[in-house]
Amino acid sequence: MQVSAPSPGILLPSKNLQPTYLLGWGPWTENSWRKPLGNDEMRIAVVGSGYVGLVAGACFAELGHNVFVVDNDQRKVAALQRGECPIHEKFLPELLQRHRGNRLHFTSDLAAAVRRSRIIFIAVGTPPREDGDVDLSYVESVAEDIAGAIDTYKVVVEKSTVPVYTNAWVRRIMLLNGAPPELFDVASNPEFLREGSAVTDFLYPDRIVIGADTTRCADVVAEAYRPLTDGSYYERTDVIPGPVAPASMDGPFKAHLLETSTKSAELIKHASNAFLAMKISFVNAVASMCEAVGADIEQVCEGIGSDSRIGRRFLRPGVGYGGSCFPKDLLAFRAVARESGLHFGLLDEIARVNEEQRLRFLRKVKKALWTLKGKKLGVLGLAFKNGTDDIRESPAIAIVKSLLKEGCSVTAYDPAAMNRAREEFPSGSVKFAADAYDAITGADACLILTEWEDFSALDLLRIRKLLRYPIVIDGRNLFKPALMLAAGLNYYSVGRADVLSSRPSVAPFQNQAIEQDEAA
Ligand code: UGA
Repeated sequence: MQVSAPSPGILLPSKNLQPTYLLGWGPWTENSWRKPLGNDEMRIAVVGSGYVGLVAGACFAELGHNVFVVDNDQRKVAALQRGECPIHEKFLPELLQRHRGNRLHFTSDLAAAVRRSRIIFIAVGTPPREDGDVDLSYVESVAEDIAGAIDTYKVVVEKSTVPVYTNAWVRRIMLLNGAPPELFDVASNPEFLREGSAVTDFLYPDRIVIGADTTRCADVVAEAYRPLTDGSYYERTDVIPGPVAPASMDGPFKAHLLETSTKSAELIKHASNAFLAMKISFVNAVASMCEAVGADIEQVCEGIGSDSRIGRRFLRPGVGYGGSCFPKDLLAFRAVARESGLHFGLLDEIARVNEEQRLRFLRKVKKALWTLKGKKLGVLGLAFKNGTDDIRESPAIAIVKSLLKEGCSVTAYDPAAMNRAREEFPSGSVKFAADAYDAITGADACLILTEWEDFSALDLLRIRKLLRYPIVIDGRNLFKPALMLAAGLNYYSVGRADVLSSRPSVAPFQNQAIEQDEAA
């Protein structure tokens, strides 16, 4: 079907929005980057120092390029210049340490960074609007500013996740703001980075997608990734370690480069995230069927995931997907479909199953504890997934909020996300514990809401001793039911039979009695 022209409703945000992005461009104070470039080096500007921009900037520096990460938040820039790492991301502190002040520079001076760069990656936020469309005002503002600084041929690359047609709009906005058409191209280079493993996802990608409508433009962007596509990065002795190579892989790793049209690249990003979200909702719906008929989701996943056409990955049932990407991207993809005159009802169903998954978990808590008012709960995990301190759209946060509404008191622990979570519960409505054992001490039940590996290594007998009632409700299937039974715990998980221990419950803190019980 013919895709209709974009409506300003999706793609052009209101001019009344005053993006803070534009405020406070400071003078460029660093001079070290003015040194002459080596043969293989390229100068790259990355606009936006959030999760994507910072990881991309640090990784491009790791590939040997001179990188200027630009952000209008001068406090953030100052912190980065001091060597602070604002996010919890594996290997990022090492990369910042390795390249800061050498090949990696932080600045608020967008115009200077643009003038000195061959490629400018736009990696600013694209938050959701109330109606599900994407707020592209930051992208638009950056495009305006870049237009004013263009003096020689440059490639502007959309890196932020954006709806199809954004590329065309960026080009149009730049032309309207005086950029000479022969001096720039706009490419789309979506990122496929997962928080928590973003650095290795960047350096060992499944694919690099470059959407460009001219060969010249595609070649410039491809050049930035050359150390990955020709494999030279992986021959270095100081390489960041990657995932284990698949057994089927012949020879050393080389990243797969896929060149497409700009529109295809934009669609690839949204369609990939929607497909992954679909896999999760599918497995969660199957988990509910397992609970209904008495089957075991782990066995079912083993069975379906062994089909190489389906694959095992992204078939982990749980409390539903969260984060800054899947929920937002699904809504945005649906909005693009709607604007294109298509009804993509599957997307609605994916989101509905995801929402239902949180409610099912709450029903499990009720099933285990009967009434909720006044119950004391120890919550393990607040981040939207393991390996990150990000709590945006975290199912854990949503579940804790619902439990507070029901009158429960909550003591929570997360290895990385507690500082951010404190801002979410400012009134002291949630207590934050020093560690996992501290969180569950004296609690009526332990709830596991994030799949941190640390939690699966917890001492089960100690958990039983510390809990008031021996109840664990696991939204991430971290434990084997047989082990929970052996530890004398009542265990509720996702898509598997409940474990109801026949051991008597113990009164709180009667550790001595339990130890005797254990010894017997
Ligand atoms: C996701 C994609 O995986 C990346 O490829 C993409 O680049 C990124 O969005 C983005 O658009 O920027 P991310 O949101 O960091 O990455 O995290 P995922 O690992 O995909 O997990 C998303 C959510 O799904 C988490 O809440 C996680 O707990 C949940 N999940 C994931 C499951 O419930 N089951 C699974 O099997 C896998």
